[in-house]
Amino acid sequence: ANKPTALIVIFGATGDLAKRKLFPSIYRLFQKEKMGNFAVVGVARRPLTEEEFQANVKDSVTTFAGATENIDEFASHFYYHSHDVTNEASYIKLREMAESLDEQYELSGNRIFYLAMAPEFFGTIAEQLKAQNLTETKGYKRLVIEKPFGTSFDSAQILNDKIRTAFSEDEIYRIDHYLGKEMVQNIEVIRFSNALFEPLWNSRYISNIQVTSSEVLGVEERGRYYETSGALRDMVQNHLMQMVALLAMEPPIRLETEEIRSEKVRALRSLRPLKKDEVGQYFVRGQYDEGVVDGETLPAYRNEHMVDPNSNTETFVAGKLMIDNFRWAGVPFYIRTGKRMEAKSTRIVVQFKDIPMNLYYKPNETLNPNLLVIHIQPEEGITLHLNAKKSGKNIETQPVQLAYSSSKVDRINTPEAYEKLLFDSMRGDATNFTHWDEVALSWKFVDTISEVWENTKETSFPNYPAGSTGPKSADQLLEEDGNFWWHID
Ligand code: BG6
Repeated sequence: ANKPTALIVIFGATGDLAKRKLFPSIYRLFQKEKMGNFAVVGVARRPLTEEEFQANVKDSVTTFAGATENIDEFASHFYYHSHDVTNEASYIKLREMAESLDEQYELSGNRIFYLAMAPEFFGTIAEQLKAQNLTETKGYKRLVIEKPFGTSFDSAQILNDKIRTAFSEDEIYRIDHYLGKEMVQNIEVIRFSNALFEPLWNSRYISNIQVTSSEVLGVEERGRYYETSGALRDMVQNHLMQMVALLAMEPPIRLETEEIRSEKVRALRSLRPLKKDEVGQYFVRGQYDEGVVDGETLPAYRNEHMVDPNSNTETFVAGKLMIDNFRWAGVPFYIRTGKRMEAKSTRIVVQFKDIPMNLYYKPNETLNPNLLVIHIQPEEGITLHLNAKKSGKNIETQPVQLAYSSSKVDRINTPEAYEKLLFDSMRGDATNFTHWDEVALSWKFVDTISEVWENTKETSFPNYPAGSTGPKSADQLLEEDGNFWWHID
């Protein structure tokens, strides 16, 4: 039926994201016959011939999408433009290419401009696309833009104003790749399609919610970027706050983009803003030290490539968010994220309140609270932790788990986040992209924390060894409330 047809212009076509995610995603869509007519123009600074660029594309899809079929045919849709972002003539040449490909491939004038490159040029590119009439087309024009979307509210607003000169809000697709993940999309479905959960989804029955996204990798080759970002801007402002918004939002009236996004915005608007002198009560930071993992010594963050040996940059954040509205008053949303942790894992634990009275009380034993665990990655699934009778005993209980794991069933068919998001941008579905209002609110929240952190050197850095679960302060944060991080495999 309606297969999307478009010219996809990828800025940053020789970069890592294009190679690892974008080309393989387009290939998978192509193989699944989800693509209508299409052509791709790769844009980057480096001079490359068409053959060289197509060879890169083939290499990428064989390596990252396991491609074995139709590789040449697929790669023949790819063209290359060696580009100087600040040079007008270069945009004019790009426009001519776009026009001729549009004709050759019958693309109905539909154009997607995908910015997968250094953010300092996002504004210039958008302005030039308009000035040189690339946005003047009979089909649709859309801007897909990668993070980071600014580094603070102010810089995000400047960037937004620039791109808005060339694209309207509904033509802008701001990527948060977590929103493309199958199980992040499942949060809404679990909440709003189960009579079992929605009535309990509030401060009366939920004690606290814990969102963890930990990584094993360190900063790798991204020291230069990461030094200006840190975990707070790299992960919290976007991925973690988006997950919190999905967990906290009210049910949308309908499953429509506008409705869902406006509920997320309302949830973010209800976040309790922090005053500077309160930051320490709500947020803690960490930085990884050297550590031994599987007999191998991993370097401290401060010894990584392009990192200041006295760096004050955080590679770990844990925090407590309070959502001051009727539904959530008093329920902490704990979040944490870090690099060089013990495991690569993203999951959400919803801890329900204790029952009013424990009939099964035994000295030194407490009943486990019910937990709903949403496993986002690497496992995909949900687990419900309950108590049941211990068989053979009269009044003893034992913890039991009801588990659904999508990994075995349909993981192979689960499209990758980028594949879904690219497809959505071509179909014009912006639901799983972040609206400017969400970006603005989350920056405003995060700005207070980063201002305080930038102005106070954390003397305890480095404060957790590579391969651990993070600094002690992250545990203390919860202990002060009488809670603890659930350790769940
Ligand atoms: C990116 C961050 O947005 O998300 C990276 O910039 C991080 O630092 C990555 O590694 C994590 O994504 P995922 O999908 O591996 O959890």
